[in-house]
Amino acid sequence: MSNAASEPVRVLFVCLGNICRSPLAEGVFRHLAEEADLGHAVEVDSAGTGAYHVGEDPDPRSREVAERHGIHLEGHARQAEPRDFSTFDLVVAMDRSNRRDLERLGRDAGEAELRLLREFDPEAGDDLDVPDPYYGGEDGFDRVYEMVHRSCRALLDEIATRIDPGRE
Ligand code: 4NP
Repeated sequence: MSNAASEPVRVLFVCLGNICRSPLAEGVFRHLAEEADLGHAVEVDSAGTGAYHVGEDPDPRSREVAERHGIHLEGHARQAEPRDFSTFDLVVAMDRSNRRDLERLGRDAGEAELRLLREFDPEAGDDLDVPDPYYGGEDGFDRVYEMVHRSCRALLDEIATRIDPGRE
């Protein structure tokens, strides 16, 4: 994932539109890192495989569920690009469709590790997709928040162990 303690670990979360799931993952992960006093040790961003929403704020439903948990979402949608595979250490896809698109985009573009977010979810079972909540109701965003939160916590634990192997 990355080297030793001096360099921050650079993590990019990616979904389709970069307005619902990945901005939420970005905000939750940054919040958890800051809470764990690891804000300096990570750099976090998000992007979409599609260009439909470039420049937009995060979806109000993602902002609302984040605010309810004390997290303010920042940033505007941008499209993922090949060079993300060289500027980030870890590219984290929200679902398998995103991962497929990223495999195509990142082929030969850099060294970044490509993972699915729910590979880190202790409750994922066989289903490794964070479902797209865009066309659903509010409760979809609550479910997505819980998955994202569990997964980001476990991902942060793994990164913390890689930064400081003595840490459990
Ligand atoms: P996201 O959700 O990929 O989690 O940002 C979506 C946002 C917009 C669309 C699809 C998914 N859309 O079709 O416009």
